[in-house]
Amino acid sequence: MSTLTQSPAWKALEDHYQAIKGASMRDMFANDPHRFEKFSIESGGLFFDFSKNRVTEETMRLLFELARQSGLQERINNMFSGEKINITEKRAVLHSALRNLDKNPIMVDGEDVMPKVNAVKEKIGEFSDKVRSGEWLGYTGKAITDIVNIGIGGSDLGPLMVCQALKQYGHARITMHFVSTVDGDQIVSTLKDLNPETTLFIVASKTFTTQETITNAKTARKWFVAHSGDEKAIAKHFVAVSTNAKAVAEFGIDTENMFEFWDWVGGRYSLWSAIGLPIAIYLGKHNYQDLLHGAYTMDQHFQGKPFEQNLPVIMGLLGVWYINFFGAKTHLVSPYNQCLYRFPAYLQQLDMESNGKTVDLNGNRVDYATGPVVWGDTGINGQHAYYQLLHQGSQLVPIDFIATIEHPEIPEPHNTILMANFFAQTEAFMRGKNEAEVRAELDKMGISGEAQEALVPHKIFEGNRPTNTILMQRLTPRRLGALIALYEHKIFVQGTVWNINSYDQWGVELGKQLARAIEGDLTTPGLTTGHDASTNGLINYYKRNAPR
Ligand code: F6P
Repeated sequence: MSTLTQSPAWKALEDHYQAIKGASMRDMFANDPHRFEKFSIESGGLFFDFSKNRVTEETMRLLFELARQSGLQERINNMFSGEKINITEKRAVLHSALRNLDKNPIMVDGEDVMPKVNAVKEKIGEFSDKVRSGEWLGYTGKAITDIVNIGIGGSDLGPLMVCQALKQYGHARITMHFVSTVDGDQIVSTLKDLNPETTLFIVASKTFTTQETITNAKTARKWFVAHSGDEKAIAKHFVAVSTNAKAVAEFGIDTENMFEFWDWVGGRYSLWSAIGLPIAIYLGKHNYQDLLHGAYTMDQHFQGKPFEQNLPVIMGLLGVWYINFFGAKTHLVSPYNQCLYRFPAYLQQLDMESNGKTVDLNGNRVDYATGPVVWGDTGINGQHAYYQLLHQGSQLVPIDFIATIEHPEIPEPHNTILMANFFAQTEAFMRGKNEAEVRAELDKMGISGEAQEALVPHKIFEGNRPTNTILMQRLTPRRLGALIALYEHKIFVQGTVWNINSYDQWGVELGKQLARAIEGDLTTPGLTTGHDASTNGLINYYKRNAPR
């Protein structure tokens, strides 16, 4: 048994769960006219309503106690001050330094990291200005019209999600493209429509060893040289973002054209670093700075506010409540704003690569659940696809509903219909439809007797399904920055309670190692025999049928 599950705060929550598990949110709202005011807060321009959760004031008190017991405040201070809390890689975790507007020093290994952070930011600003203004010219003297970001995971999802979310701020002349997968279709179809004279490639990789990225970058370089006929022109069309200057130089990109970041920035937390270069070019350095500013505001809130008023703390603890006490396995993110349609995919990596762990900080296997499966799409599409299971299925799936009040340039009645659905869904998940209501409805429709009896059980909605609601005025760089930082810190809160390292990702390594070995098998003629029967069989089936 771990110390966590034996701890007083955990035990108190277990007892409390037994007492409250049958309680209905409908009753909670009926019995407390101030529930909404008590269980909602605003920070960084984000209004957060958590009143539609299966919690009472006592639940929240016990959850805050759990956070205190886990030493959360000390862990927060350690992270922000540059302590090496990523213990397996012996690294600090300082994405917050990249948006630190305080100008206070942040020390790593006796060195203040802020001067180099600011120098790279300056370089990003200058470069993005040049590309946007048309001063940066391609090899035939034309301005850049297309940017292709080649990267994967954190070197793709962050910039991709932000550029799409804030596309109304995008530069009119510039079109963004993102290439991540190695299956070839993406790079080939992207290159097909591009003009090499006006295309800039950003090769983004923290390690600069990621096979998918390097393969795509080589294909892009080959395509470019085939068209330009001049290796020297590469300097005008390829830049790199990485922590690995040596590998960048070996690839053939002048390190003058490299934008640096550091090993204390985790890949999935890296959009605030030079990995955000495509964001700065597309949106402009002021909007990029605003994005960082929004995250900084959330950092300040997270560090400074008591747990009782602390948005990431509350959100993280609510997740713990459902995962560890109600047994929820997944968490749905449902944005009601088309611009945020890649936000769930972004959060998937952020959360699942961070808290998908079964070993605690002391190296012991945990005896409690950790990170949930995070999933989602735009909410309105979800309503017509998977919401059925959420309303009437047998699993409890907590949901984050996210919406913006203003949608500039969208004609009515679109927004009103969208928002009516948004509010209706959280209401439906909370209140459900009980037997009496179903019968009254059927009576009204003239369905009675046996026909009514047959239908009633199918039409009952249990309700009592928890949702958080996040509302913001408008999707601006600042609000988006605050929203992303909110989730980053939520994940940290949960990792702290679970006593795991949220900042390594060893689980992605095995597949990479095996793929390298299998690559050799695929190119070696004859039967492959070095694996288990299934893997051998599949490889041999592939080899027999692959075109030569
Ligand atoms: O394999 C997982 C991973 O290492 C992620 O953590 C990372 O975001 C992604 O691959 C890309 O890595 P890199 O930026 O080093 O190419």
